[in-house]
Amino acid sequence: MAEEIYSPGLEGVIAGETAISTIAGGLQYRGYSVESLADHCSFEEVAFLVLEGELPQANQLAAFRDQLNDAMFINSEIVETLGKLPESSSMMDVMRTGVSMLAHWDPETGDNSHEANLRKSIRLLAQLPVVMAARERLRKGKKPIEPDAELSLAGNVLWQLFGEKPTESFARAMDVSLILYAEHEYNASTFTSRVVASTLSDLHSAIAAAIGALKGPLHGGANERVLEVLQEVGSSERAAKWVREALDNKRRIMGFGHRVYKTGDPRAVYLKTLCAELAVGRSEFEDMEQIAETIEQAVTSEKGLPPNLDWPSARLYHYMDIPVDLYTPLFVVSRVVGWSAHVIEQHDNNRLIRPRARYNGKSERTWLPISER
Ligand code: ACO
Repeated sequence: MAEEIYSPGLEGVIAGETAISTIAGGLQYRGYSVESLADHCSFEEVAFLVLEGELPQANQLAAFRDQLNDAMFINSEIVETLGKLPESSSMMDVMRTGVSMLAHWDPETGDNSHEANLRKSIRLLAQLPVVMAARERLRKGKKPIEPDAELSLAGNVLWQLFGEKPTESFARAMDVSLILYAEHEYNASTFTSRVVASTLSDLHSAIAAAIGALKGPLHGGANERVLEVLQEVGSSERAAKWVREALDNKRRIMGFGHRVYKTGDPRAVYLKTLCAELAVGRSEFEDMEQIAETIEQAVTSEKGLPPNLDWPSARLYHYMDIPVDLYTPLFVVSRVVGWSAHVIEQHDNNRLIRPRARYNGKSERTWLPISER
């Protein structure tokens, strides 16, 4: 038997290989720094890069956009069911159910070939914003809005939610947030998707499982709780005391800390600038920027914890008037790109993921008949 290596939470363990992204020396998707991609690319270009391995040429991007536009419609029976789910259903549960339903109508659900996986990934990328927006409108008693082929994917998210053509700055802010959320090597939800794919189960099953993993507040669910922190603190003057008390009470401050980035999350640094830009001229948002800055300084000086991507993204979405319980579903809308790329990579070179556990239960016990236990 090989030497036993154990690391709680698999911290620091290299659990597989990937050519999709790395966080060593800054976050890079397929070798490009995420900052340069956010500076220069659209989310569609980045999605193509993550899925296909190369940035698209103009004709490839046009064809990719056509594929997305063709797939941006979901079966009417799915829309109907989305409207019938209980009012109390969480939006993340709706997203998970949405993927499960889409699997029933996808023509290639059970085909794990590279080409079919790619086509399914593109369809899911196009369909998930439609699921999210349709449910959001139905629960408010409104009719879902059909996507507009003239808009970008990010623009369509806003269009389908609000029924108004987004401003350039909102469309760009949404686009950048989707780029930053798109991929992040072996995080908990991506690892989940790879474990499912490694049994040779299909892409939709892997994505449904990944959504379940993302939902938790230690992962994607954190961005919905960040706003509660900002609102609870309420003013810059209260921030330092609030942080000290929270840390004294061993409370986890949502949007801070990261398993891998111990000195700072580059995505958070990038998005912070965009938050400040969106807040300009709106006093309540400028105040929120100030509160966020004071909390950030206090958490960093008290505990040495830098903010993660969820810290600025919650503010960014708030400034765009997006309902709080759509923040993590928006993470899904973006991260489906990374999950899909990992499922494809896993299927293309598969080995069943089946680690061992260190047993710490009782042993050598003697069975007794039920009357004597
Ligand atoms: N608030 C307060 N204390 C924290 C926080 C936090 N957000 N994060 C870590 N700590 C503390 C821990 O209590 C621990 O303190 P101690 O050494 O005094 O006991 C120390 O920092 C180390 O923490 P670990 O739990 O070992 O760090 P780990 O790598 O397991 O945690 C995690 C990473 C889960 C993300 C954690 O930082 C956390 O819970 N953050 C809040 C939730 C969050 O923002 N999640 C989003 C992650 S990023 C993303 O999904 C885009």
